[in-house]
Amino acid sequence: MSGPPPPKSREHAVCRVEDLKARGAVAADVGPVRVAVFWLDGEPRALNETCPHRGGPLHLGEVRNGVVRCPWHLWQFDLATGCSPANPNSRVAVYPARVEGGSVLVRAPAPAESNGPPRRAPGMPALPVGEQEPT
Ligand code: FES
Repeated sequence: MSGPPPPKSREHAVCRVEDLKARGAVAADVGPVRVAVFWLDGEPRALNETCPHRGGPLHLGEVRNGVVRCPWHLWQFDLATGCSPANPNSRVAVYPARVEGGSVLVRAPAPAESNGPPRRAPGMPALPVGEQEPT
């Protein structure tokens, strides 16, 4: 049985690289997920924005030695792997990110690969995505 081809992941521009360098981290809705994008060691790193503990906003966390600490209860996640240094069973998804033409691009999973619509921490407003894909 064949059906339509599965949806493909797509790159989305989330901000200008100079903005990311100045702010250190941003959050944006990218396809079906909300991502936290950090500037680390001269390149962007993208993780799922929502802390798996209780939904804290990871882009507001402090980064030390390549590890972000959730601002709510201090769980930690490696920006390269998404894994917790303290608990290998605790992790967040990581997404490919790169710079092109002065923009930070993040490759979002196809809708079938995500866990539903973007999730936000309670009380967090939607942040604009720098550039929308045509529909
Ligand atoms: S919500 Fe992130 S550590 Fe609790």
